[in-house]
Amino acid sequence: MANRLEGEVAIVTGAAAGIGQAFAVALAGEGARVVLADIQPAQNTQTLIETAGGEALSVICDVTSETDITAMVDATLKRYGKIDILVNNAGIYPIADIEDTDMALWNRIIGINLTGTFLATRAVVPTMKVAGKGKIINISSGTFFMGSPGLAAYVATKGAVIGMARSLAAELGGFNIQVNCIAPGLTTTPGVNNGMGDEMRDGVVMMQANKRREVPEDMNGALLFLCSSDSDFMTGQVMLVDGGAARN
Ligand SMILES: NC(=O)c1ccc[n+]([C@@H]2O[C@H](COP(=O)([O-])OP(=O)(O)OC[C@H]3O[C@@H](n4cnc5c(N)ncnc54)[C@H](O)[C@@H]3O)[C@@H](O)[C@H]2O)c1
Repeated sequence: MANRLEGEVAIVTGAAAGIGQAFAVALAGEGARVVLADIQPAQNTQTLIETAGGEALSVICDVTSETDITAMVDATLKRYGKIDILVNNAGIYPIADIEDTDMALWNRIIGINLTGTFLATRAVVPTMKVAGKGKIINISSGTFFMGSPGLAAYVATKGAVIGMARSLAAELGGFNIQVNCIAPGLTTTPGVNNGMGDEMRDGVVMMQANKRREVPEDMNGALLFLCSSDSDFMTGQVMLVDGGAARN
């Protein structure tokens, strides 16, 4: 299936690498014009999209900054005139036991994973309301369902974005704006490659029903479903794409 999102405009935060990069490429592959909002240059993602014949706009944007978010949304509207899709993907997952989680680390995790989701969402809702349609997808985590150790602050944010999605689903449903979540399992990305050893990653594969490491593209089906009209009557929900690791 191709061109399901022809003419649509999508913003993906954290699109320079990992899951956000794969999502941006997948959205462009279905015909969307994609805004790559990242704190680091997203040139690689832009090249992947353009080489495949798609269109993208890279904007340096720290999702914790109201100023950056406003400038990124303004740049999107100036270039494309509308916003149909927002994927709140930018996130960090430092591992630290609770007694080693100082205020600076706590605030950094909350700031990017939760406040960033709030700021980007608040910035796109007015234009979606006027258009009478919109899709917002928050990237949660399978760790919220597993209760993984060493990640209390992170897991708190990943539960919070589900709570935010449920509340906003109710608040925005009358405007034909759907707000859903994807919860990935442990997925091979630059962030995971830098932070986790083989032992931990193999341990997660053992817990999965599907016995291989998850890759970002495993979530493309869920993402494109939630971004397309196929999911118009589904909102406030979570799609857990983790190879069957969390089964309760
Ligand atoms: N990889 C996994 O196993 C996994 C599992 C569950 C959930 N997730 C979630 O998926 C999302 C992406 O994870 P990933 O593994 O691809 O991460 P990653 O570290 O590989 O890539 C994250 C991207 O976000 C960007 N970013 C970081 N801080 C930012 C900020 N303040 N503003 C804008 N961009 C910023 C980075 O520059 C990078 O391009 C995160 O929300 C993460 O919590 C990942």
